[in-house]
Formats: sequence, structure tokens, C-alpha cells
Amino acid sequence: SPSPVTVPHAKVAGIIPLLPLETRWPSVTRDPSPLRQYNGFWIPEMILKGGFTAVHSCFEPRPSDVFLSSFPKSGTTWLKALAFAALKRSTHPPFEGDHPLRHWNPHDCVKFFELDLSAGEFEALPSPRVVATHLPYSLLPDSITREGSGCRIVYVCRDPRDALVSFWLFMRKVSPSFTIQEAFDLFCQGRCTGGPQWLHVLQYWEASVRRPDSVLFLRYEEMLREPESHLKKLAEFMGCGFSKEEEEAGVVSAIVELCSLGKLKEMEVNRNGVNNWGTKNETFFRKGVAGDWSNHMTPEMAQRLDRIVEDALQGTGFTF
Ligand code: A3P
Repeated sequence: SPSPVTVPHAKVAGIIPLLPLETRWPSVTRDPSPLRQYNGFWIPEMILKGGFTAVHSCFEPRPSDVFLSSFPKSGTTWLKALAFAALKRSTHPPFEGDHPLRHWNPHDCVKFFELDLSAGEFEALPSPRVVATHLPYSLLPDSITREGSGCRIVYVCRDPRDALVSFWLFMRKVSPSFTIQEAFDLFCQGRCTGGPQWLHVLQYWEASVRRPDSVLFLRYEEMLREPESHLKKLAEFMGCGFSKEEEEAGVVSAIVELCSLGKLKEMEVNRNGVNNWGTKNETFFRKGVAGDWSNHMTPEMAQRLDRIVEDALQGTGFTF
């Protein structure tokens, strides 16, 4: 249920001790990261204390900004790579031997605005800026979501069962004793970063229905099936659609190839590099398929989660 405490988002740091607390998820960063429930969503306390406040008090969006949004473990890394490669292709053609994605992890090419950037760093990024966020739609600054802001939002949605399994296996790398049952119980209660997952997804889907020119809603599973058509749609939406000549020259397929799990996984930076948060880059690349949940969850667990999600989405018009 939503937190009973409401304040302007920029002032949330002052009420953190009053917000419901969840401490059972292992931390992926060097510091412990308890979650707090704020306006119906579970958000890392360190985000609420730092980046979230900054984003709501001093970040100034520009109409050309593109925000890549997702619930964690839903294809963020892939979306970052694709959007970056598409947007920056005039300076960095995908065929280039020293393309940034061959030397940097996608999370170094596109930063999370509530996690990695100060207001000054955000301001200094050259337009068109592309940044990412795990924040729910309702917790984004009004300056981004209001009619006429010009900002574009791309959301990637994933089957909750696969998002959960991916999340659990990611956490298990830092905390080997964390069990699927523990992760499952927390996830089903919505008690995970950005959770409840289905409400995170629902808000962006509803926004994409209301404002299709401003919010593009993509599905990870469909992207896997048809990466090229989704890349073209993404580029078109970001205002940098591919020309016929580019398509004929193989630019679209070169970007898909450059950003493929197989290619990114084998790059030195992604095999042995460590990112700013102290996480090994290799942890962002695993199987990258749809349906791997069935190798880790029992049918009973899947049914229980399906039921929770179905109940929560009833009457909304959205289904996974
Ligand atoms: P799995 O753990 O199911 O393999 P995020 O980037 O939001 O953290 O999501 C991580 C998930 O996306 C992982 O899923 C990971 O393997 C997958 N992934 C990462 N890079 C990808 C890519 N280039 N193409 C497809 N899937 C990718």
C-alpha cells in the first residue's frame, strides 16, 4: 500500500526515517542499500537521499533529451547499447574498430541519471543527451513528463518471471547464500528495487498509450525476436531514423550485431572490467533469452506470481 507520508519529491530526504523499510535484499554496491517504500514503490534509500533529490531539485531537462527507462534486469544494458549506437552513429559508425562500445560497458556510455550523474555532469552532456533511469514513471520529475516538455522516454518491459530470475541470479553473484525462495517472496510482495514490477511496467505502458509520441513502450521478448525492426522503431522515435542508404549499407544490422549479447560479452571490458559501483561488468550479460524462469522456478511459484500479477492488472487493459 502507498506510503501515508507525502512531501514534495525534492524534500523526501527529510522523511526517510518515516518510510517503510526493507533490508532483506543483498547489496550490489560497496555500501549496504536498504529499500524504502515511497509513493507505492520500493526505492534504494541511497537513491532517495542523493540522486533522487538532485534530479527533482536541480536537473534541467532539454526537449531533445531521451530517457531510457526500465525495471532492473529487463534489458536495460541492451537498450543502452542500442540507443547509444543509434544516436551517436554519425560520430561513431558501428563498423568502427574503436567504437566506444568496444571499449566501454554500455553503462559507461549511458549513465543512470539518479545514480551516476551530478546536476553539473548532466548539464555538461552534449545534446541530444541520452540517460537511463530505473525510477517509476510517477516518480520522474514533472519537467520530463509534462505535456510539451519535448523529452522522449523509451521503456523496456520484460516478463516478470524472467526479470525476477535474472534479478536473483545477479544478486547471487554478490551474495551466494541468497535463495530463489527469498527473492521470490520479496518480489511477489513488490519489495525489490523499483517494485512492484508490474506497477512499474503498468505506469509506463499507460503513459505510452496516453502520449505515444513521448513514450515508446518496448518488450524485451519482442526485441529478441525481431531486433532490427525494433532498432529502426527506436531510432525513428528518438528522431534519428535510418535512411534507405544507411539500411542498404548495413548500418542497422551492424548496430544489432555490435550490441548483441554474444558480441558485448566477448569484449575485454565486459569480461574483466568493473564499473563505478564496484560491480563486475560481466554480471550484466548472462543468457539473454525469454523463458529461462522455468529452469529456476517451480510451476507452483510461477502460478503464484502469475496470479498476483493478473489480479493487480485486472481492468487495466495491460497484459504481459
Ligand atoms: P538474463 O539474466 O535473463 O540473461 P539489465 O540490463 O536490465 O540489467 O538486464 C539484464 C538482462 O539482460 C540479463 O538477462 C542479460 O543477460 C540480458 N542482456 C544483457 N545484454 C543483452 C544484450 N545485448 N542482448 C540481449 N539481452 C541482454
